[in-house]
Amino acid sequence: MFTLAHLSDVHIGPLPKAESWRDYLGKRTLGKLSWHRRRRFLHDPVIASAMIADIRAHAPDHVALTGDLINIALKQEFIEAALWLKAFGPPDWITVVPGNHDAYRPFPWAEGAGLWADYMTGDIRLPGAARAAPGAEQVFPFVRQRRNIALIGLSSAVPQSLFRAGGRLGADQRSELAATLEDLRQRGFYRVVLIHHPPVPGLTPRRRALDDDQELKQVLEDQGTDLVLYGHNHRHGRSSLQTRFGAAHIVGAPSATSPGHGTYDAAAWYLYKIRRQEGAWSTTVNIRSWDGRKGAFVAHSSFTL
Ligand SMILES: [Fe+2]
Ligand SMILES: [Fe+2]
Repeated sequence: MFTLAHLSDVHIGPLPKAESWRDYLGKRTLGKLSWHRRRRFLHDPVIASAMIADIRAHAPDHVALTGDLINIALKQEFIEAALWLKAFGPPDWITVVPGNHDAYRPFPWAEGAGLWADYMTGDIRLPGAARAAPGAEQVFPFVRQRRNIALIGLSSAVPQSLFRAGGRLGADQRSELAATLEDLRQRGFYRVVLIHHPPVPGLTPRRRALDDDQELKQVLEDQGTDLVLYGHNHRHGRSSLQTRFGAAHIVGAPSATSPGHGTYDAAAWYLYKIRRQEGAWSTTVNIRSWDGRKGAFVAHSSFTL
């Protein structure tokens, strides 16, 4: 049995002080206002600390974190998130993919999400990744193999215009994903795709969706996969897609710092127990959710895929 924990959308706060007024230009002006007016009440870092403790107590074989570690892409936020990750656990235990808030504005890779690169590195270095100054386009997709489980990390994080929170994979990433899924299927791996945005149309409004979700859906239908884990909606989500190779289960986790006020679900993490039995995969899922009255994570629900 292989156990995999999934969490998402940590939105580590509070916002650090910016280094200069230039840091608040453009989209970040709105982002800063939105944080102080509304978002800081939606994200409590104490909950993420309790989640880390709860995940550790369950000792999963691996952890997947599907993006939105930070808020408005200030330089100091990337640094603090790198320290947060290091305190959470080692890079060979945690796999990260970035979200739209991690690319809130164009930012040099090496000083931005590149600080988390050890958590976004595949087992096999693809030729492009050897370049002197790698950017996101050389890093994704990456593949990590843990026993007979393969984790495929995608980046849908690209800077967005003022009122959009969408994302895009692009043709290169999609074609590499197709080849990767085919190869892993032929080698008998259980395939887990990690992506911040919901991977298929209809799971989120257009202004918050992947530009190329229809194309990604086609790749998944053609090549199959066992599981797709996503975040972004700050809500529980569960659906499936019929592919040429059976059902692909698509599951979204809420924000890891959400107290559960208002329209968003309370913070929760998912524990996947993946087994190979009599030639078929069987996956059971236990959800652990934040209980504000108890100040702790408690069993929420469970199901089998
Ligand atoms: Fe988010
Ligand atoms: Fe997001």
